[in-house]
Amino acid sequence: MKSTNVKVFELNYDHYSSGKYDRDIVNSIPFHRKMHQLIVRFIRKNLHSKPCAVLDLGVGTGITSKLIQDELPQAEFDLVDFSKKMLSGARKRMGTARVQYIFGDYSKLSFKKKYDLVVSVIGIHHQNTRGKKLLFRKIYSLLKEGGVFLFGDLVTHKDDKIASLNQALHFHHLVSKATDQKTLTEWAHHHMFLNDLAPIEDQVKWLKEAGFEVEIAMQQMNTALLICRK
Ligand SMILES: C[S@@+](CC[C@H](N)C(=O)[O-])C[C@H]1O[C@@H](n2cnc3c(N)ncnc32)[C@H](O)[C@@H]1O
Repeated sequence: MKSTNVKVFELNYDHYSSGKYDRDIVNSIPFHRKMHQLIVRFIRKNLHSKPCAVLDLGVGTGITSKLIQDELPQAEFDLVDFSKKMLSGARKRMGTARVQYIFGDYSKLSFKKKYDLVVSVIGIHHQNTRGKKLLFRKIYSLLKEGGVFLFGDLVTHKDDKIASLNQALHFHHLVSKATDQKTLTEWAHHHMFLNDLAPIEDQVKWLKEAGFEVEIAMQQMNTALLICRK
């Protein structure tokens, strides 16, 4: 049964240079920087000076994991992506010391280790409902007791009016940040036809059903950061 609505070659950034992707992702996701500031703050407060095994699901070019690596230089990273292009961008950014690059679909891979931290930022919203539920359970099982899943992503909302307003604001954001029409077309297409956003309320419920304690650390427009503790 299918758990994702997208194939890697359909993703616009699978065809990009990683430099273009780095600029575009920050422009196309409202509050991308703020979400990462909150992630860094969480790591500083909760994980500093602890040995740490980190798994990043959908690492992209490593923007999120590099910030974590800077905070936790002794941490070991397993970085997963099904785009070779993205993984090579991550490799350039993060190097090879204590970093493993894993090529494949995270919903199909099996992982042998247990982790202190699983992170996924803007990496799960192509999964359908079934895929998200299965993945949340899988992530729970991959964490050590007391481990944390930092889950940042695009979401929608159960209330139609809030969902509509946030959708409109998201497209306004894309228009206002676009550097050229081709890029705008690609990202607008991505957000309109490739994303499979689920209401934040449902996702919190599915995470709790998987066993997590969930805190909504940030929710602005369609961008949310959830801190999920095992
Ligand atoms: C948009 S990037 C986000 C990277 C980074 N966290 C950031 O915020 O810039 C998400 C990545 O997830 C990857 N991805 C999406 N679905 C995946 C799957 N099922 N298995 C592996 N990687 C996946 C995409 O190829 C993409 O590189």
